[in-house]
Amino acid sequence: MSREQLEADLRAGLWSPPPSLPPRWFYDERGSRLFDEITGLPEYYPTRAEHEILARRSAEIIEITGARAVDELGAGSSTKTRVLLDALTTGDRQAVYAPLDISGEVLLETADRLRAEYPTLTVAPAVADFHHLPSLAGEPGRRLLLFLGGTIGNFTGPERSDFLAMVRGALVPGDHFLLGADLVKDPARLVAAYDDAAGVTAQFNLNLIDVINREAPVTGLHREDFEHVALWDEDALHIEMRLQAVRDVEADFTGIGRRWRLAKGEHLRTEISRKFHLDALHAELADHGLATATVAGWTDEAGDFSLTLARAT
Ligand code: AVJ
Repeated sequence: MSREQLEADLRAGLWSPPPSLPPRWFYDERGSRLFDEITGLPEYYPTRAEHEILARRSAEIIEITGARAVDELGAGSSTKTRVLLDALTTGDRQAVYAPLDISGEVLLETADRLRAEYPTLTVAPAVADFHHLPSLAGEPGRRLLLFLGGTIGNFTGPERSDFLAMVRGALVPGDHFLLGADLVKDPARLVAAYDDAAGVTAQFNLNLIDVINREAPVTGLHREDFEHVALWDEDALHIEMRLQAVRDVEADFTGIGRRWRLAKGEHLRTEISRKFHLDALHAELADHGLATATVAGWTDEAGDFSLTLARAT
């Protein structure tokens, strides 16, 4: 991702109330490593819960959908997808996997590894962000599009609606959409998942300051001036991650010719992570031409996380 994109996000986000930045800037090399570490933390249940569901339901998902091609949005290193690829290629069946991600490097590495591991799988990676879907791989009407991990939670309501409309627009009737979404639960557990005892999520959040310093010309922006905060907003049904100023901040963004002030105690919003009630989520999918009633949905044993298989109508 480019300096121009970051500067556009800085311009659009830092001077609005509340100041905010989109979460995509978390994921430089260190940030991606920290996120991997988060997925193994005792407090961070979503990755394990989703894997539990996928491990149990992959064969069923491939059977219901009749899919011979799987497209995945935000594929990353595709670790979460392997159980599904196993089911897709059972009995050495020929199949296609098209991982889509914003990071070309991760994609190409992943593609090489998968080709070596799955000889009957055609791997067709494509660089794409959540706003522009390329045409999907596979035979129309028999495609399966994945959006896993709970990343749908990063969108605001309007962004989610635009996203679902775009997904539906990329599909034809008969294609399927498999969505991973985190569920509303005890606030103490939600907050702990985003404010872990080992402080890894704090490092992940603060890494954003390092990314900005590296990618955009700025003086006066120091990570020691911020502290990690995670809070549950029970009206919005989201966890909000913040970087709160521990002293007055005055940063000079020389690249865009603007000064940014944040008084001690004020904060920068760095991420929202929406949690869902299943019935409301299914209604929202149906409103966007993604029917769930005739298909299937699962949670893990504990009921923490959901996978929903919706059919384009
Ligand atoms: C990758 C967006 C699903 O919202 O749980 C984890 C990112 N942020 N801990 C999430 C995240 C802090 C994660 N998603």
